[in-house]
Amino acid sequence: MIDEIDGEVGGGEAERFWERHYTGREQVWSGNANAVLVDVVGSLPPGTALDLGCGEGGDAIWLAGRGWRVTAVDVSATALGRGAAAAVAAGVGDRIDFQRHDLAESIPDGPFDLVSAQYLQSPVDFPRERVLRVAASAVAPGGLLLIVAHASVAPWSWDQDPHRRFPTPEEELGALDLSPERWSTERLGTPARRAVGPSGEAATVRDNVIAVRRLPR
Ligand SMILES: C[S@@+](CC[C@H](N)C(=O)[O-])C[C@H]1O[C@@H](n2cnc3c(N)ncnc32)[C@H](O)[C@@H]1O
Repeated sequence: MIDEIDGEVGGGEAERFWERHYTGREQVWSGNANAVLVDVVGSLPPGTALDLGCGEGGDAIWLAGRGWRVTAVDVSATALGRGAAAAVAAGVGDRIDFQRHDLAESIPDGPFDLVSAQYLQSPVDFPRERVLRVAASAVAPGGLLLIVAHASVAPWSWDQDPHRRFPTPEEELGALDLSPERWSTERLGTPARRAVGPSGEAATVRDNVIAVRRLPR
């Protein structure tokens, strides 16, 4: 259910861009959970999770199906509405709280056992580093911050600049400014995966994967 709507109708640039993106097609994403999330979180005991930029809810629904209580956030009300409907259809509507936030302005209060940011990237102005630093502060002691980001240009990427330089995972982790005394790094790398674009074409792409655990107090 969407029980908290903040921001104004027709609000900021991010909302306008992403609303246009979602309303332009009946369904944008596959509905499946992201592969790295499944790989990293599949063996963890369920708890509370925050899904940042949840889109149409594929990850949140997968998490809820495994017993997690999920707060799923996006700037697009259309994406959230689709996620909420899919969650009800999957029988996990009562385990996911879909909330609309422009993450540049607000983020749900923590703590969460898992904070997940899967491809939280935007072609419009977005203070990603700052948002991820705030997201890190919402991780509970003993909890995990999982960040997965595009690290290559796919044939269907918005930005087709072949010279585009992506930050390394080390640079992304460094920008979070996490104390090594309070955090341990569980994954840091740029694995390749086979992906399928919106028109069905397949390509090998790379992701930056960062999984850091806040040490228990
Ligand atoms: C590339 S998509 C990834 C969607 C989903 N996590 C996935 O992996 O399929 C980025 C998502 O972030 C959301 N988003 C972009 N800017 C945002 C912002 N400022 N606040 C909240 N969500 C935002 C978009 O609406 C979109 O759903």
